[in-house]
Amino acid sequence: MLGNFFYCNPTKLYFGEDSLDFLNTELPKYGKNVVLIYGGGSIKNNGIYDSVVKILNANGKNVAEIAGVMPNPTVDKLYEGIEIARKHQADFLLAVGGGSVCDYAKAVSVSVNCSEDPWEKYYIRFEEPDCETLPVGCVLTMVGTGSEMNAGSVITNPHTHRKIGHVFADEKIMPKFAILNPKFTLTLPHDQMVSGIYDIFNHICEQYFSGEDDNVSDYISEGLMRSVIHASRIANQDPQNYEARSNIIWAATWALNTLVSRGKSTDWMVHMLGQSVGAYTNATHGMTLAAVSLPYYRHILPYGVQKFRRFAINVWDVDPAGKTDEQIAHEGLAAMESWMRELGLVMNISDLGATPEMIDGIADGTLIMNGGYKVLDRDEIIKILKESLS
Ligand code: NZQ
Ligand code: ZN
Repeated sequence: MLGNFFYCNPTKLYFGEDSLDFLNTELPKYGKNVVLIYGGGSIKNNGIYDSVVKILNANGKNVAEIAGVMPNPTVDKLYEGIEIARKHQADFLLAVGGGSVCDYAKAVSVSVNCSEDPWEKYYIRFEEPDCETLPVGCVLTMVGTGSEMNAGSVITNPHTHRKIGHVFADEKIMPKFAILNPKFTLTLPHDQMVSGIYDIFNHICEQYFSGEDDNVSDYISEGLMRSVIHASRIANQDPQNYEARSNIIWAATWALNTLVSRGKSTDWMVHMLGQSVGAYTNATHGMTLAAVSLPYYRHILPYGVQKFRRFAINVWDVDPAGKTDEQIAHEGLAAMESWMRELGLVMNISDLGATPEMIDGIADGTLIMNGGYKVLDRDEIIKILKESLS
């Protein structure tokens, strides 16, 4: 483990099929005025909404609602929610949903008492809040982003075609608690389930494919990746398999709660490419990652051969006997590709609605990170995006 770092994650997790009961333990810690935040209606169809409202009422809360938070929440929706939270004089924000709802709740949290435009302040200038923020709690219903235990918040500005994530520096922006009930995820449509699975896997890759030192984070990552692959194959065949879904939800949380990034420079270029594709297509997050991953990883493989070799052997059980390092490394990516196809992920950006005419704009919206094995230039981004078209 090289470098200096701190580690602090204050989110309390409640796990299991009875975990919603612990909302009764948490709610009394916060004020009376609660804003319940949720998406387009799945929680009303599967009964989670009724269960949550019952607990809020039993705890004497005065509840306002922000409904209809869309996947890839927009800045306009954020402005609407800020007004609702202000009018209600909110003491506490309860997010019930997936990454979009949790991210959105954090964005409202840092904006309610902020006099500036939150899009400009947090997503363009990447400043930290200098106002009082509101506590957020999360009841997770969609698995993948890790938003339930991190300080990330991704907001899309459809007017400028920018989808930008801000990982807030202060751990107080992380949810105070998260309720992880694997049963709540059983109603997810298959495409959302596999999209979330690939999101988890790629979060681990983004942190794993960086650095050359011997680092405990990489060993934890390999274990998490093996568990995700194993559980995903079971869930893909048998989506109602509780054991597999429970492993997936737990792995998702640990894949992006700052643990496996300790001591790592981290890459994040698949996410930067995928987010920019998402800003143009509004496609499902995990699918945007799947569609750009292989062209990206094959492009950077020569700059990080030893790590891709290790990935092939330790994660995909590639037999190294009699092969060059490059051959082993490529075999690992081929194994990953066949797993992705087995899950039914979208493997190119054309199928997500991207067109050749969008490539320049998508490249303009791709933030270039410098923690991975190769710092890309614009020509390389264009090349990867063009390869991702088909
Ligand atoms: O809106 P409803 O009707 O609830 O339907 C949702 C939505 O359409 C549905 N859904 C959720 N739970 C369900 C369910 N349907 C049936 N049964 C359930 N139990 O699933 C759809 C997708 O939900 P969403 O929250 O958008 O998915 P996800 O969790 O993948 O979140 C995506 C957002 O998170 C951001 C992404 O960029 C995207 O904006 N990310 C946040 C990160 C973070 N905070 O660290 C990191 C990630 O890399 C990611 O960028
Ligand atoms: Zn992601």
